[in-house]
Amino acid sequence: MINEFAHEQRPSRWRLAVRRAIAGSAVVLLSATGVVALSGTAHAASTLGAAAAEQGRYFGTAVAANRLSESDYTATLNREFNSATAENEMKWDALQPNRGQFNFGNADRIVNHARGQGMSLRGHTLVWHSQLPGWVGGLGTNELRTAMNDHISQVMGRYRGQIDSWDVVNEAFEDGSSGARRNSPFQQRLGNGYIEEAFRAARAADPSATLCYNDYNTDGVNAKSNAVYNMVADFKQRGVPIDCVGFQSHFNSQSPVPGDYQQNLQRFAALGVDVQITELDIEGSGTAQANSYRTVVNACLAISRCTGITVWGVTDKYSWRASGTPLLFDGNYNKKPAYDAVLAALGGTPGGGDPGGPGDGSCTVTYQETDRWGDRFNGQVTVRAGDASISGWTVTVTVGSAQRISTTWNGTPSWDSSGNVMTMRPNGNGNLSPGQSTSFGFTVMAGGDWSAPRIGACVAS
Ligand code: XIL
Repeated sequence: MINEFAHEQRPSRWRLAVRRAIAGSAVVLLSATGVVALSGTAHAASTLGAAAAEQGRYFGTAVAANRLSESDYTATLNREFNSATAENEMKWDALQPNRGQFNFGNADRIVNHARGQGMSLRGHTLVWHSQLPGWVGGLGTNELRTAMNDHISQVMGRYRGQIDSWDVVNEAFEDGSSGARRNSPFQQRLGNGYIEEAFRAARAADPSATLCYNDYNTDGVNAKSNAVYNMVADFKQRGVPIDCVGFQSHFNSQSPVPGDYQQNLQRFAALGVDVQITELDIEGSGTAQANSYRTVVNACLAISRCTGITVWGVTDKYSWRASGTPLLFDGNYNKKPAYDAVLAALGGTPGGGDPGGPGDGSCTVTYQETDRWGDRFNGQVTVRAGDASISGWTVTVTVGSAQRISTTWNGTPSWDSSGNVMTMRPNGNGNLSPGQSTSFGFTVMAGGDWSAPRIGACVAS
């Protein structure tokens, strides 16, 4: 019950804090598990992630573990995005190919990479009819119920506190006009109630995670989205734990961005859930593609509960729909017109082309709570250079009066007279090349106050 309460308080406090921080442009109050970035200078942000952060949102991408060894891929990922979703590595077949045999290697690789870069994470996905190993479909009712609950608790338990949002159930409704539940093994054996069972298991497994229902062809108002809407309304009314609805948003000429996209997302938000754009890609090229992307970004920005956007891959060449060139970077990691449109819609301006100009010498910070014990917690701040090299930085960390920072690492701290404000500088040389990041950490003795420290804006030198 305490956890439920804490969870309900989290999203609004988080957003409020981001908004206030942006308005005041000084400091940001951060939630225990949320990650936000704040630009340290007055100029507009020059990357997707930094620009979205200034709007109080994340901008993420699907990530494939086996591409992380490609330097251009990783450089683009690290520079532009502040949220990551495993494209395939957290699906049931990847994590539990045989009953009771869990393979977390590739999922861990993505989680570690993202966390090392100060990115937030989306978990995708726990209960889905596709990429489901054969053994699951062969189980009887009781066994399947046990297996589903076990899968949720094992997977969410492993990443507890590290994954901001989880797609608990994916694609549970039929396409077309029926509004029916998809005839998956879960539906067949467990009946309609499996979706809420999954959400209840998910809340128990990680009370700090935002729990999402995710689907496609639900982007506009139609029979399928109406069916999902009715389910979410029912869950909210009966207190079934759901926090968010994900809209995959895979678009092409057969399935363009619907004219009522914003209106549809808005009606879900009005039910009291966050909305997230979870797998965005839009086939096409040039101005037409750019215009569609702009429409999607503007729709999200117009909805206060639209908390972030994820595109379904970094580069066209590795897209699941590569022939449709649906992403923001081409096969050579060049920015496409769609990229420019998205960045501009987010309020950013392109950087890199004006050495010595106002975009230079900036840095951003993100904060994450990384561990918690009975009396203390660890915080991690990631400092990232903007579009130019920097040779040093300072960041202030302010804790509450009952709190005390007992240890720090990977930085050189100094303190004000109250002992509550720590100013952190690099250990040794503070050189960071454009887009490069470094992290420092600290332990806070909570003294009964579990609120996150206030992280001041990054000041570059
Ligand atoms: C896709 C991946 O991009 C492909 O690599 C994989 O072969 C199939 O799945 N809806 C979803 C995603 O929820 O998980 C799917 O991802 C795309 C459609």
